[in-house]
Amino acid sequence: MREFRGKVAVVTGAASGIGRGLAERFAAEGMRVVLADVEQDALDEAVSAIKAAGGTAIGVRTDVSNAADVEALAQRTLDEFGGVHVVCNNAGVGSPGASWEDTLENWEWVLGVNLWGVIHGVRTFVPVMLKQGEEGHIVNTASVAGLMPGAGPPSYTVSKYGVVGLTEMLYHELAMASDGKIKASVLCPGLIATRIYESGRNRPGGPPPEPEPGSQEAAMREMVRNVFAGGMPPSEVAGMVLDAIVQGRFYILTHEHFKQHVERRTASILSGEAPPLVRPAQ
Ligand code: NAI
Repeated sequence: MREFRGKVAVVTGAASGIGRGLAERFAAEGMRVVLADVEQDALDEAVSAIKAAGGTAIGVRTDVSNAADVEALAQRTLDEFGGVHVVCNNAGVGSPGASWEDTLENWEWVLGVNLWGVIHGVRTFVPVMLKQGEEGHIVNTASVAGLMPGAGPPSYTVSKYGVVGLTEMLYHELAMASDGKIKASVLCPGLIATRIYESGRNRPGGPPPEPEPGSQEAAMREMVRNVFAGGMPPSEVAGMVLDAIVQGRFYILTHEHFKQHVERRTASILSGEAPPLVRPAQ
């Protein structure tokens, strides 16, 4: 896909971070943009900022883990703009906790948003795009945590491996079903300067309690905040996604140095050894 002006993009998780960067970039390319997010205030703010910059955008409050919400998002998109050409299934959350210690609620929340959110996006938007018969592109946000163990907590890792697998299949399914008109890419970012470390703000049942000022946990949170603040700006990721759509590139890895870990994991699959563990900031 090379022509963006006047086309329609839907971005989930668009009120913050990578999603907001994507929405702003698509709008700057002359696309009409639908921003979807569960956080209403931040969503309104993001839409206003795009409009103030001269772009065309609407916001639709959407919980991507809910199939009916995603179907309503597609309907609203068609009612407003009459079509859809780029869909970024991007909303995501993370929650720490060992595999056997993490609560059932956390497992269900993380898989609900990160994996089911993408599944709902694919099940809802692909039929619309196929019927439309025009060029299109689906970008699913996974993570380097979807390519190797250790770059994220267990529930997050499981969800992102799922997104990679789904998108690898989707690429080939679309090639057959759309005669190559609709393509798919999987975005696997490394460290990006977003609010992902504060995902608990959208947790059903409310965010976790604030740590006591001066406590070990408060110091830990401050450290994590600083690590993320030093990540790649979302606008740079958006540029990479746009290039990948233009060039029809499938895997979008934002950080070169993670490729050595992909090689090591692949080597361990071939040799039968356990995969090396990656540290999140590596
Ligand atoms: P962020 O927290 O800044 O943005 C995520 C957005 O998703 C927020 O606006 C949030 O309100 C929204 N969201 C949360 N639950 C939702 C739900 N149920 N329905 C709809 N929207 C919901 O974080 P970031 O980093 O921009 O996250 C975007 C994607 O990038 C996620 O899939 C994340 O896993 C992925 N990612 C981020 C990395 C990073 O270093 N920041 C690295 C690798 C992947």
